[in-house]
Amino acid sequence: MRILGIESSCDETAASVVEDGETVLSSVVASQMSTHGKYGGVVPELASREHLRAIVPVVREALEQAGTRLQDLDAIAATVGPGLVGSLLVGLTYAKSLCFARGVPLIAVNHIEGHIHAVIMESKRAGTPVAFPAAALVVSGGHTHLFEVREGFQYRLLGKTRDDAAGEAFDKVAKLLGFGYPGGPIIDRLAPYGDQSAVRFTFAKMKGNALDFSFSGLKTAVLRWVESQDMETEIEARRALRRENPVPSSEEWLAVTPQRTLDLLASFQHAVIVELLTRARASAESVEARTLIVSGGVACNSGLRAAAESARFPYPVYFPSPGLSTDNAAMIAAAAFPKLARREFASLDIAAQANLPLA
Ligand code: KG4
Ligand code: ZN
Repeated sequence: MRILGIESSCDETAASVVEDGETVLSSVVASQMSTHGKYGGVVPELASREHLRAIVPVVREALEQAGTRLQDLDAIAATVGPGLVGSLLVGLTYAKSLCFARGVPLIAVNHIEGHIHAVIMESKRAGTPVAFPAAALVVSGGHTHLFEVREGFQYRLLGKTRDDAAGEAFDKVAKLLGFGYPGGPIIDRLAPYGDQSAVRFTFAKMKGNALDFSFSGLKTAVLRWVESQDMETEIEARRALRRENPVPSSEEWLAVTPQRTLDLLASFQHAVIVELLTRARASAESVEARTLIVSGGVACNSGLRAAAESARFPYPVYFPSPGLSTDNAAMIAAAAFPKLARREFASLDIAAQANLPLA
């Protein structure tokens, strides 16, 4: 069974062919980073224009790499939401037109479910499948959600961020300090040079659901710290570096980043990691999880991976390989596989949904 997955919910145009829900025959991702980098975040109008430019060649390349023709496909899966509506529309409409032209069924996939299936697919392939019930932490630029995942891929929302997503906090802090976009990978690379206990961040106690997150207070605390430090010159030096070279190396960043800022980055990243893992653990305990899944762009973070490992959770903790952590289409094709078995096909008039919930 071969499924072509198409993903275009944010700023990556991606296509992938996955066989039997576990073998990735191809996974092509066209990133728009260079387009949005200079604006310090995703510009929706530019994103949809870039998707339009990339969608046809990206799908063609995914099919070619997989040695698959359109008529050999058992289904085409596309992300239907959540995401930027103008971006979603490009991938979804292209998927619909291919389905219509070739008489192939369409499967609509929720982007968050895709992130969870990146881990389910890889664990199956590795011969150590996720055991259910599982708890899933989906943590990216757009989401910070905790779910219970039961047998048969049934989801229940346990908690989510009330304001910024964790990846968004990484990106905003990086932008504030004059680093590039996306900020997560840059902070990840520089944090090991700082002292994570140098700046103490305290989190307000959450009222209501104890499994909800909030990162806006942390972002404000970083802003206050920056305002108290007289940092204009070093921030300008980093902006100048980016104008010269849009993707500086760690060494180049280090040359324009004094120790106090490295300490701040380490302390900020540490605070985020503690928040994520504390609530992930509480969620896993609350549903008596047999596996903890961590997925989404922030799951690439090496500090988070190391902290999860040294936390010695009493159940396995699975992260996707880095290429399947950030947005990709293999996860969309993987999430579609059980739907194909259930013949859960979408109508060709299905609409993209910017705020589509998973549960
Ligand atoms: O899953 P993703 O590609 O797109 C969304 O669905 O949002 O995640 C992108 C987010 C960005 O906010 C980026 O800064 C963050 O993931 N990210 C990281 C790392 N790599 C990507 N955050 C922390 N550490 C990383 N290594
Ligand atoms: Zn994502």
